[in-house]
Amino acid sequence: MTAHDLTLYITPERYDLVYSWYRDDLDFYVGLAKRARGPVLEAGCGTGRVLIPTLQAGVDIDGLDREPGMLEVLKRKALALGLKPTVVAADMRDFTLPRRYALITLPFRAFMHLLTTEDQLQALRCLREHLEPGGSLVYNLFYPSFERMVQAGDEPVLEREFPHPESGLPVMVYARSRYDRVRQILESRHEIVESDARGYAAATHHHDFTLRWTYLYEMELLLRLAGFSRFEVAGGFDGRAFERPEDEMVWTAWGAGA
Ligand SMILES: C[S@@+](CC[C@H](N)C(=O)[O-])C[C@H]1O[C@@H](n2cnc3c(N)ncnc32)[C@H](O)[C@@H]1O
Repeated sequence: MTAHDLTLYITPERYDLVYSWYRDDLDFYVGLAKRARGPVLEAGCGTGRVLIPTLQAGVDIDGLDREPGMLEVLKRKALALGLKPTVVAADMRDFTLPRRYALITLPFRAFMHLLTTEDQLQALRCLREHLEPGGSLVYNLFYPSFERMVQAGDEPVLEREFPHPESGLPVMVYARSRYDRVRQILESRHEIVESDARGYAAATHHHDFTLRWTYLYEMELLLRLAGFSRFEVAGGFDGRAFERPEDEMVWTAWGAGA
C-alpha cells in the first residue's frame, strides 16, 4: 500500500456535484453492456454515473468499488428509481465474486487510480479471472500529452464553471496539477468554490487525487503479463484509431478463449 491509498478520493456527494455533467462515455459504455452476451461488472463504479443508466437499459450489471460511501450514494439514487443493484465494496486488486462476466468495464479512468505496476498487474489479473471464456475487459484512460504537462504551473486554473444543480448558483472548479514525469504520477488538487447569491465564495472544498499514467507499449506489456490473449486500443469512444497524444486511450482486452 502506498501513502496515496490512504487519501479519501472525494466525498461521494461532491463527486456527483463535480462529475455528473460528464456524459461523453455514456452511450459507449451503456451500448457495450447492452450488446454483452452475459452479465456485466463495472469495477470502480463510484456513485453509479454509468451503472445506473446501464441498469435502466435492462442490463444485468453488478458493481464494485472500494469506497463504501460511494456505493451508499449509488444505492440511494438507484432506490429512488425503483432499482436494486448488486454492488460490492471491494478492491479491484484483490476480490472474489461468485459470478463470471461477459464484460468488465472500468469507465472514467478508474484504472489510473492504480499507482504502481504491481497494483496494475494485480488488478488486471484479478479482473481477467472474473471473465467468462471469451469475455472482455474495456477501460479508458488519458494519454499524457506533453503540451498539457508543460503548461501545468503552480497557479490554479479555472477548469469549469456550472450552476449548482439544486440552488442554481455558480460553482467554480479550479485545478492545479503536478506531473512527476519520472514516476508517471499526476497529483491534482481541485478547489470547488460554491458562490452565494451575491457572487461571493460561500463554501470552498478541496479534492485531491493522484493518478498514474501509462504509455501505449507499457499497457501492451501489462496486458500480456496479466495473461490477456488479445487486445486492441482505440483513440476515443467512437472507435477511431489511436494516433494523437490528446486522444483518450480506450482499451479492449480479451481473456482466454477469445
Ligand atoms: C473516476 S471514479 C469513476 C466512477 C465511475 N466509474 C464513473 O464513471 O463515474 C473512480 C472510482 O474508482 C474507485 N477505485 C479506485 N481505486 C479502486 C480500487 N483499487 N478498487 C476498486 N475501486 C477503486 C474509486 O473509489 C472511484 O469510485
